[in-house]
Amino acid sequence: MSKTVILGVTGSIAAYKAAELASLMVKRNYVVHVIMTPAATRFITPLTLQAISQNPVHVDMFASPGSWEIGHISLAARADLVLVAPASADFIARLAAGMADDLLAATIMATKATVLLAPAMNDGMYANPVLQEKIVYLKGVGYRFIEPETGRLACGTVGQGRLASPEAIIGAVSQAFSSNQDLADKRILVTAGPTREPLDPVRYLSNYSSGKMGYAIAEEACRRGARVTLVSGPTQLAPPPGVSLVPVETAQEMFEAVVGRYDQVDAVIKAAAVADFRPRQKSEQKLKKQVFSPVLELERTPDILGYLGEHKSRQVLVGFAAETENLLENAGGKLRQKNLDLVVANNLTEPGAGFGVDTNLVTLLYSSGETVKLPVLSKKEVAGILLDKVAAIIQVQAKKV
Ligand code: PMT
Repeated sequence: MSKTVILGVTGSIAAYKAAELASLMVKRNYVVHVIMTPAATRFITPLTLQAISQNPVHVDMFASPGSWEIGHISLAARADLVLVAPASADFIARLAAGMADDLLAATIMATKATVLLAPAMNDGMYANPVLQEKIVYLKGVGYRFIEPETGRLACGTVGQGRLASPEAIIGAVSQAFSSNQDLADKRILVTAGPTREPLDPVRYLSNYSSGKMGYAIAEEACRRGARVTLVSGPTQLAPPPGVSLVPVETAQEMFEAVVGRYDQVDAVIKAAAVADFRPRQKSEQKLKKQVFSPVLELERTPDILGYLGEHKSRQVLVGFAAETENLLENAGGKLRQKNLDLVVANNLTEPGAGFGVDTNLVTLLYSSGETVKLPVLSKKEVAGILLDKVAAIIQVQAKKV
């Protein structure tokens, strides 16, 4: 059953971005009904949003009786979620004052659905203590806010007030719909994809990782309420909505990105295929065939997981083991040597497992000695089961602290 989203649009210069949001939500198979305040129609026409949402757009509370049956009461009842994007300062203040003199405010007052507000305004207006007091009040009565971004604003100033990115807003909508919020507010760092170890400006050493496993974990963790940082090598994948992407190339860059954030996270899940070796010499110029040596001298790259294991405090540490033989022995060795809480072992030579495919065939090994062998599952399902285990371990760790 598709979810119904009421997309409220208010009088902000960012109102034009409602078109992209409506389009993204329709593509995710949400039923989108748009309600505009009269001020919003000065920035974007109802016809534009009607064409994108494929539903009549509502503006006037007292429109002709023919449309009354889908007025604020029935829209409020049908909504699975109300998203106000952009939410202007005036609209936020009127909502906090309990005003219901326009269709959008009346619908919000009547609905029992989750209400998400994405403010967009001049930075000085957003920082105004009167508005901030209204936001605190609305949060206190259960309204959720998607913080505006900091950057160059339409009025030419630079500050916090720019409407959050479509990815962040859609991620928040997706999160609000997921019933399971067992990772709410947990900070989880996921690594994904290959690393690239350069030989010269043209050539590098890498591997077949597509990033699908790590991206599935990041998306699922975000859907379940976690604040997710995804440190990713080069892939062809779009970052999951709502996830904070940190793109890297080399093992050294991944090491720095992960270690630099280690103290601020509750769990690290290392699905990335990090190169173990890199060329000892990196040429600044393209190596010519004539001088190309048949022997390539290699050196070790930083062992990120090993470092994390040695410097672990309260974090939950999950590693992967990509093997082609002696799966359980090799994975068990990593579990112990790197002080892991859990290792996900996959034999890359088995059908449906490992690089590039949408499925994986994994065995979970716990520091407790427990082993769980899973059948071939989608990487999304593997991510769900893995995160069930991570959530449980985080809970146990939290009780110890
Ligand atoms: O990306 P996909 O196409 O979806 O493929 C998924 C996958 C096969 C990449 C994934 O399931 C997987 O197995 N990832 C781990 C790959 C890997 O590098 O395994 P490893 O056994 O070589 O390394 C063991 C662990 O140490 C891994 O968690 C790895 O991230 C980590 N490591 C390795 C080397 C290094 N220098 N630093 C590390 O942190």
